[in-house]
Amino acid sequence: MPSTNTPKRVIKVIVAAAQNNAIGRNSDIPWQLKNELAYFTKMTRTIKLPKDLQKENNQVTKDATYVYFGDKKKRVLNACIMGRRSWESIPLKFRPLNHRYNIVLTSNKDLLAKENSPLVAQAKDLDEALQLIDELNNNSHSDIYIQDVFAIGGHGVYKASMESPNQVELFLTRVQFPEADSCDTFFPEINSNIFSRQSFEALQERVPFEIQKGVVQENGLQYEYQLFLKS
Ligand SMILES: NC(=O)c1ccc[n+]([C@@H]2O[C@H](COP(=O)([O-])OP(=O)(O)OC[C@H]3O[C@@H](n4cnc5c(N)ncnc54)[C@H](OP(=O)(O)O)[C@@H]3O)[C@@H](O)[C@H]2O)c1
Repeated sequence: MPSTNTPKRVIKVIVAAAQNNAIGRNSDIPWQLKNELAYFTKMTRTIKLPKDLQKENNQVTKDATYVYFGDKKKRVLNACIMGRRSWESIPLKFRPLNHRYNIVLTSNKDLLAKENSPLVAQAKDLDEALQLIDELNNNSHSDIYIQDVFAIGGHGVYKASMESPNQVELFLTRVQFPEADSCDTFFPEINSNIFSRQSFEALQERVPFEIQKGVVQENGLQYEYQLFLKS
């Protein structure tokens, strides 16, 4: 019997951080990197079904994946867990993040009172968010099945994820940003006793589309896609 303490979830932490771990400035991303943003969008939207869910009667379209659990057809989505300020920083017309299940961490019980999208939920902390995902997946009446879980920031969500006993895969885009000192929000320090950097090949294996190896140049900046795992 597996111990009840065995962490079964993989949390995919995805972040673009400067050389000093800066991630934000004035409630916004400090840089404009279209291709890097496209990497985030594709990573969080792409559904990678495990073998046991790959069935002949699945329906996979450009925008949606459906699987059958018995007679029940469910839409498969990845979850994006984010902090309240990150949620609020997404322009209204782009939220909830489409084709993803959005979970906002907040202590304000009424934050989403006016939201009527079935793709948004709130939770008081990371544990409650993960519990909510388990409940959704175990509920035979739910129309949604969550595949991968992404922690998409900001600081508090990243910190809780990195320190959680779950399996963590850190997809870090390291941006060389000359104005890093003017930023106001930071990714927590990566503890090298716990996390170690992996090869580009190990990263590419986990990314469901081809990415560029080494330094990428965009909009006058340089960055690199990296992967860290718990050692
Ligand atoms: N570069 C990147 O990849 C990236 C990614 C995401 C965000 N960002 C940037 O980061 C900034 C926003 O991040 P932020 O750190 O200021 O704010 P945030 O983490 O998005 O939001 C903070 C709020 O979220 C709730 N919260 C966060 N972590 C929690 C936890 N573990 N448990 C319970 N509640 C939690 C609390 O809400 P209540 O106060 O409502 O209780 C907290 O005040 C923006 O500049 C954004 O553009 C950058």
